[in-house]
Amino acid sequence: MACSTFSDRRVLVTGASSGIGRALACELARGGARLLLLARRQELLETVATECTTLGATGVMVLPGDLTDRAVCQQAVELAQTRWAGLDLLVHAAGISAHGRFDVSDEVTLRRIMEVNFFAVVNLTRLALPLLRSVPKGQIVFIGSILGHCGVPWNNEYVASKFALRGWSQSLRSELHGQGIGVLLVSPGTTHTEFFDHLIARRGTVPWNAQPGISPEAVARQTVRAIERHRREIFPNWRGRLLVWASRVSPGLVAWWMGKLGEHGVKRK
Ligand SMILES: NC(=O)c1ccc[n+]([C@@H]2O[C@H](COP(=O)([O-])OP(=O)(O)OC[C@H]3O[C@@H](n4cnc5c(N)ncnc54)[C@H](OP(=O)(O)O)[C@@H]3O)[C@@H](O)[C@H]2O)c1
Repeated sequence: MACSTFSDRRVLVTGASSGIGRALACELARGGARLLLLARRQELLETVATECTTLGATGVMVLPGDLTDRAVCQQAVELAQTRWAGLDLLVHAAGISAHGRFDVSDEVTLRRIMEVNFFAVVNLTRLALPLLRSVPKGQIVFIGSILGHCGVPWNNEYVASKFALRGWSQSLRSELHGQGIGVLLVSPGTTHTEFFDHLIARRGTVPWNAQPGISPEAVARQTVRAIERHRREIFPNWRGRLLVWASRVSPGLVAWWMGKLGEHGVKRK
């Protein structure tokens, strides 16, 4: 997709070393965005930066670091301030997960997932707000999940983090409404990325791992279209949309089905 909507727009993308973040960086690069790419793996970030430059991005910067380190978030915002004198778009794509029942999991797993998927996102947003307020139409994109709409078994920490993100982003959207800053929540379902290779705990297998998913590029294309149209919320996969719809119109049925999955649908390793 070649478009000029993002020409010279200053964009910070977290989780840009792989998956959805990487695909989003590439899609925005096609539109001529200026990019600051953040994730821990420097080599991969540099490969993505080269790819983005080839695709049309101008002045791509990389910042290797862990988002849960407040100094890294601070550094990202300072880079945008000193090199660009502002920020037009903040994209939060970094995220992690774990598989396993609550009763065999532990607090360390829960806290780490909440730190990466929720507190780091909140912290970076807080730091970036002054820059986003200084431009006419600042935007923030959160990559949430279908599991931020529907609780499933064997993924409780991740579900908690994405529900928190969804609720908090709704509040934030309403508070920023009068300040000209748009908030988009993207809730993908299963997407073919490295995500499931990086689980921080694996205490069982979940049935939806084997589900057909969509490509990160498809999520990125829909997200970029939604940014251009100033949408509030999108659900890139139809299976995910169906689950959210079913849990609204027939919550009892979905709760029954989830109960069955929780009891019998998965085998311990
Ligand atoms: N894949 C799915 O089925 C799916 C479905 C719904 C929602 N999502 C959401 O989509 C987002 C992207 O996930 P993905 O599927 O693209 O998986 P991915 O390929 O594993 O990408 C995750 C990204 O997050 C970065 N990251 C993880 N922890 C970090 C930390 N502490 N500090 C900085 N960066 C960190 C990783 O980079 P480094 O390892 O280099 O730090 C990587 O770039 C996540 O928020 C995820 O919850 C995924």
